[in-house]
Order: sequence, then C-alpha cells, then structure tokens
Amino acid sequence: KLQQEFKLCHKIWIHVDGAWGGAALFSKKYRPLLLKGVHHADSFTFNPHKLLGAPQQTTIFLTKHNHILMDSNATGAKYLFDKRKVGAEYDLGDASYTCGRRTDAIKFWAMWKYYGLKGLEQRVESKITVLSQLAHKIRQHPSFLLVDEWPFNINFFYLPQRIRHRLQELNNNDNNKNNKNNNSPTFPLDEINTKLPADIYKELTKITVQLKIRLHKAGIMLIPYQPLDGVDADCFRIVLAGKKEFTNQDNQRILDLMQQYGDDL
Ligand SMILES: Cc1ncc(COP(=O)(O)O)c(C=O)c1O
Repeated sequence: KLQQEFKLCHKIWIHVDGAWGGAALFSKKYRPLLLKGVHHADSFTFNPHKLLGAPQQTTIFLTKHNHILMDSNATGAKYLFDKRKVGAEYDLGDASYTCGRRTDAIKFWAMWKYYGLKGLEQRVESKITVLSQLAHKIRQHPSFLLVDEWPFNINFFYLPQRIRHRLQELNNNDNNKNNKNNNSPTFPLDEINTKLPADIYKELTKITVQLKIRLHKAGIMLIPYQPLDGVDADCFRIVLAGKKEFTNQDNQRILDLMQQYGDDL
C-alpha cells in the first residue's frame, strides 16, 4: 500500500508516522515486512518511548533532505548560535523549533549503546510474539471477538454472556442457511460489519466503555479503547509499551479479569 501511495503522491511531501510500528526498524525479521518502501518517504517518525521502552519522551524524526530542518527552523539568533564557538558544528539547536529544550536523543543513544542492536531487536520481537499469543487466545475464547490483528496492535471486543447468546443464535441461523457445522462466534474482519446487526454494535460500544470504567475504578487495569476504520463500534486495543517483559500469563490474566468484571454487562 505504501508503495502505491508513493507512486501516486510523488509531488507532495510524504511523511510516515511510525509511532508504534516504526520500532520494527530494529528487527531483521519484521523490518522487510512492515517498513518496506519507507525509504521513499520524505520523513519518518517513531517513538522509542513506546514499544522500545525508552524514557518519556523520546521521539525520532528522520528525513533524507539534508539541511531542511535548518532551512525551516533556523532563526540565526547570534546571541544563541554563534558559529565561532568551539563545537558550533555540533550544535543542532537552530535546526529545531524547540531551540534550547533538553536533548531527547541522548536517552535513546544511551539505551542503544547499553542494550545493543540485538537487545533492541529482542525487545521488539518478544513483544510481537506475546501479542500474537494474545490474538491466538482471543480467537479461541468464546467471550472475545478479534476485530483486527497487527503485529503491534490487537483490537477486539469483549462479549458478555447476553451478546454471546445473540451471536450464537445468529451463527446458528447462518449455519442452517449455509448448511455449515460451526459453533464458534468468530467473524473475519471483512465480514464483521455485514455480519453483525447495528443494534449489537451499539451495545458493544456501551459494553466497551462500561468495562473500561469498571476495571479502572476497581484499580485493576487501564485498558484503552478506540474506534477503528470500517468497524461500527469502539473496541479494546492492546499495545505493549515499556521495558517490562510481558508473558502469555499476563495475556491470560487480562482476559480473565475482563471476563470476571464484564460478564454481567
Ligand atoms: C500513530 C500515532 N502517531 C502519533 C502518536 C503520538 O505519540 P506521542 O505523543 O507519544 O509522540 C501516537 C500515540 O499513540 C500514535 O499511535
């Protein structure tokens, strides 16, 4: 898709926002899959403070256009950026619109130095592995409906008992019509909007919001939700940030707690 966009839009500035997924840069396995063609972009950002777990905030802006930051931002204030001073060639202050703010890059530089490329790669890949295990669990679990699965990003609905019964009825009708023998309430993404009646989407949005509030107020879990293109209800979204190692047991605990707090919704 990126490649097509580049062909269509070659006369405008193309920026790729890799806030989450840009960390794939550090994985030999995922870089070719997720960032193919990104070198055609004029600029690219990613946030090491997200998936890689650098301290807040550490945002990288990469561009292949030499001098563009200086040309766009420099004010040339002589009292700040005197070219005669020692090391003036290393002073990037005038290239940045924040001028004298702290040097965010140091945090990332130190982390890279300490963990090495291998360490960063391992961090990216272990998170992707745990998220794919979560997607697998959701697919198998009758109380959850996987909406969309990206390596960094798992989107799903929680289905309390009453919604599971409705979906089961819908599935049974569908199976009877198509002579299928399938009891699992799973719907592929491209069918999800055509499959589920509008009133169920309305209910799912309410359930998502209520369950989040319940978990929050109980001091158990802060789990985000969001709208998703092409899906008519807000769904939960799990991404993994930070230094902490997540495991498949953490995945199980998330699902168990959601079930425990949400089944009567
Ligand atoms: C795609 C995308 N872009 C940009 C941002 C903003 O990130 P920040 O404010 O941490 O730089 C986010 C945050 O999650 C994001 O997901």
